[in-house]
Amino acid sequence: MRIAVPRESDAVETRVAATPETVKKLKTLGFEVTIETGAGTTSRILDTEYEAAGAVIAKDAASTFADADVVLKVRRPNADELKLMKAGALVIATMDPYGKEAEVQAMAEAGIAAFAMEFMPRITRAQVMDVLSSQANLAGYRAVIDAAAEYDRAFPMMMTAAGTVPAARVFVMGAGVAGLQAIATARRLGAVVTATDVRPASKEQVESLGAKFIAVEDDEFKQAETAGGYAKPMSEAYQAKQAELVAAHLTKQDIVITTALIPGRPAPRLITAAMLASMKPGSVVIDLAVERGGNVEGAKAGEVATVSGVRIVGHLNVPGRIAASASSLYAKNLFAFLETMVDKTNKVLKPNWDDELVKATVLTRDGAVVHPAFAPAKS
Ligand code: NAI
Repeated sequence: MRIAVPRESDAVETRVAATPETVKKLKTLGFEVTIETGAGTTSRILDTEYEAAGAVIAKDAASTFADADVVLKVRRPNADELKLMKAGALVIATMDPYGKEAEVQAMAEAGIAAFAMEFMPRITRAQVMDVLSSQANLAGYRAVIDAAAEYDRAFPMMMTAAGTVPAARVFVMGAGVAGLQAIATARRLGAVVTATDVRPASKEQVESLGAKFIAVEDDEFKQAETAGGYAKPMSEAYQAKQAELVAAHLTKQDIVITTALIPGRPAPRLITAAMLASMKPGSVVIDLAVERGGNVEGAKAGEVATVSGVRIVGHLNVPGRIAASASSLYAKNLFAFLETMVDKTNKVLKPNWDDELVKATVLTRDGAVVHPAFAPAKS
């Protein structure tokens, strides 16, 4: 059994899908592991460290993918990479498939079995494979660090002989995995933290971290959670009430971190240009949803924009801004999933296509798009 781990081809990607720690574990399962030279550089992992863990270093993508039974990646393979993979290979990555039907079809045509890690069910057995959580947690932390770096005042209250510096006021919008870590991090830095979400379950979590919960808590709010624990799109009437409450609150904030997402849909717009204009100059807004359309009007993907004196930070790939930690957790998520597809006694790959984790994540197989969300409707 051979595993390939290439250098990520997307210029914005700094993470890598295996670490020396997971290479060792993969070897124990009976895999040969080939890593493309330089794959770990931006996560501070040297070729020599992979070699010491038992991997073979390949000089380019072609020799990395050649004859691999499994490919571990961070991002969806592009057309050039697909040409180098053998038919039947299992390719495990974050596939970002919504709105990318042609790319999903291309993976089917390449004959690979493509698994989208972000579709992993949020059940106890799969927690260790939850890439959304492992990466969002780090993104939430990094968002606060980025905000502190952009902000030209201090976060904690400081009482000095020369006077008092007030604590920064931080407002976190969306209290899922990223938002909760942002709250915890901002609190550790000494900020006064408030947060909002449309899921009622989040209220207690926000308060348990020492932040104040701000939301319109009407009947719609009380039912605004899917069975999977995700947010539902809210009615226009609710959004208007929420916007009014948020608008008044924003005028008093120094830092805003937005993380609001609804699976499979564009991110909800939470902050308008008019709201930005009402904020204090020098305030900082971090839009963690920028790659999914953004929560903030005027946020630009990959840029720090200034609107009405407010800096709006739209960094791409925020987990990749803390790449060494992000790769370490991501690689473990992938290992945990792959391990479920190995027959350990005979040391052979043996995916159980009826397993609920496999069924939930597999997008393409045997030349066809098989995932119900993307497969062509049967007539
Ligand atoms: P996400 O990344 O899909 O969305 C981020 C947050 O934005 C969510 O809390 C969502 O409710 C919120 N949001 C959406 N629309 C909003 C709006 N208009 N205004 C304000 N907030 C809005 O969510 P994430 O981080 O993946 O977490 C979703 C849920 O899954 C949470 O309840 C989390 O605790 C749960 N979870 C469960 C796991 C498990 O059981 N294994 C693992 C990880 C998370």
